[in-house]
Amino acid sequence: MCGIVGYIGLNDAKEILLKGLEKLEYRGYDSAGIAVRNEEGVHVFKEKGRIADLRKIVDLSVTATTGIGHTRWATHGAPSQLNAHPHQSVSGRFTLVHNGVIENYEQLKKEYLLDVALQSDTDTEVIVQLVQIFSNEGLETEEAFRKTLNLLKGSYALALLDREAEETIFVAKNKSPLLVGLGEDFNVVASDAMAMLQVTDQFVELMDKEVVIVTKEQVTIKKLDGEVVERAPYTAELDASDIEKGTYAHYMMKEIDEQPLVMRKIIQAYQSDQGELTVDEEILAALNEADRLYVIACGTSYHAGLLGKQYLEKMAKIPTEVHVASEFVYNMPLLSANPLFIFISQSGETADSRAVLVKIKELGYKALTMTNVPGSTLSREADHTLLLHAGPEIAVASTKAYTAQVAVLAILANAAAQSRGGNLELNLVKELGIAANAMEVLCDTKDEFEQITRDYLSTTRNCFFIGRSIDFFVGLEGALKLKEISYIQAEGFAGGELKHGTIALIEDGTPVIALATQESVNLSIRGNVKEVAARGANPCIISMKGLEAEDDRFVIPEVHELLTPLVSIIPLQLIAYYAALHRDCDVDKPRNLAKSVTVE
Ligand code: G6P
Repeated sequence: MCGIVGYIGLNDAKEILLKGLEKLEYRGYDSAGIAVRNEEGVHVFKEKGRIADLRKIVDLSVTATTGIGHTRWATHGAPSQLNAHPHQSVSGRFTLVHNGVIENYEQLKKEYLLDVALQSDTDTEVIVQLVQIFSNEGLETEEAFRKTLNLLKGSYALALLDREAEETIFVAKNKSPLLVGLGEDFNVVASDAMAMLQVTDQFVELMDKEVVIVTKEQVTIKKLDGEVVERAPYTAELDASDIEKGTYAHYMMKEIDEQPLVMRKIIQAYQSDQGELTVDEEILAALNEADRLYVIACGTSYHAGLLGKQYLEKMAKIPTEVHVASEFVYNMPLLSANPLFIFISQSGETADSRAVLVKIKELGYKALTMTNVPGSTLSREADHTLLLHAGPEIAVASTKAYTAQVAVLAILANAAAQSRGGNLELNLVKELGIAANAMEVLCDTKDEFEQITRDYLSTTRNCFFIGRSIDFFVGLEGALKLKEISYIQAEGFAGGELKHGTIALIEDGTPVIALATQESVNLSIRGNVKEVAARGANPCIISMKGLEAEDDRFVIPEVHELLTPLVSIIPLQLIAYYAALHRDCDVDKPRNLAKSVTVE
């Protein structure tokens, strides 16, 4: 989703901004732009499409040492050159980039901007025109900016240039992520540390409703009432090589391949001196005090949450509900007396999940966030954090973060079970190690899945995934992967449910991918496969060693029955990857999708 960069220093800003925007490409966007300021004024370059398209129109002869940049994921107004950021006030004095959504922009237009000829369809333009109006009334830019911020309802991360204010970037945020990076003789602004790792690893977190004045020598953080806030920087612990593709054609394949390694890192990170996997005492206490857990997440993280419920109930015996964040916030169920909320979010920035966090905090409840990004909003604002240790995930379609979430959920449930004196037959260190080895075997068998993709998906317009019990939840994630990146219409169903309606869609040759990794439902899922095959479907059964039958198309190595999702998802990730590749789709940056969805 939208990304912001800014640079103010001694070097040419253009290249630093463009490189920064390239690092933010993974978030998903449909247009991009930069604005640079020099003695002649502010020069804006913006274009629909990719950063590569923007690069073509940037005038290389313009040199400037101050600038801001933006990748836009359209919300208000179509993706177009006109609606791309930066936006300028009518006089051209103020130039702004914005991430987020201004909910009251129509009202602000009516109240303040009836005489202003707006140039775009965006909510963003309202902000920059308001700054201009208040500046025309005689306010200093910082005051005009502050007055504007006081009127805004919604979410924003903003970077503002003033043609007249030599070498200053005005910055503010509310609900949307934004960081300031520190350097010697320069400072930067970025939605995500990754964008500016090229120049610094020292970052300062910004809090909601702060105004930040950035010059090349100084960063001054103020509250909206003007009070100055001191905040120490932190070191972004990201290895620049983690965010390179290396020899891979796509990040997604690199990230699929990294999964066994991530499992081993997770084991290391959560292993106690006694060799057991565990989590902080405080987290265990919070879990043990709760009478019910509420897992809140979106997309792939929600699918991991569905497996988390299985673990938390089966291992730790704690009643657990799983909710889609965007629904929960407006339609809250009757809560138990002592709930604990568990937020699962790869990015830690998803606006839908954050809206729930804000709401439950207002109600006085405690929250634990499971995230891949230390210091992310959901981590900062929750009472406890469990890290995924998956390393940066760049491809929009989540792979290694999903398996990391599943593994950390298993560790959490196992630790809670142990702390409650449960009788555990599961040696999790050993079983996760076995799962990591099995993942490696599958990653080494890629050709097989390329062939399966050719055999089943080369011409189809749709595909069904079926499974029972735990396999059903993995099927949901498999279907999501396939539709996200190949645009094949795909749905996951509980094996027994397809016949209650959707079986009407089965035609000759319709691919149905069935998972059979659970002994307790092995016969019944095979019965469901027969039902669809009898109606012309082309079933592809992926089973597990020990449960296999003659016609199975692929048999995964044997792992503990609770941990099969870690392994059975890999064939589905690979099938989605090859389907996208065969259809010439942009694997890492699928249309219309954003990696980090920072608007509700
Ligand atoms: C977006 C991404 C999905 C992701 C979801 C939740 O929709 O495209 O891949 O699963 O957000 O993201 P989170 O960062 O909260 O896990």
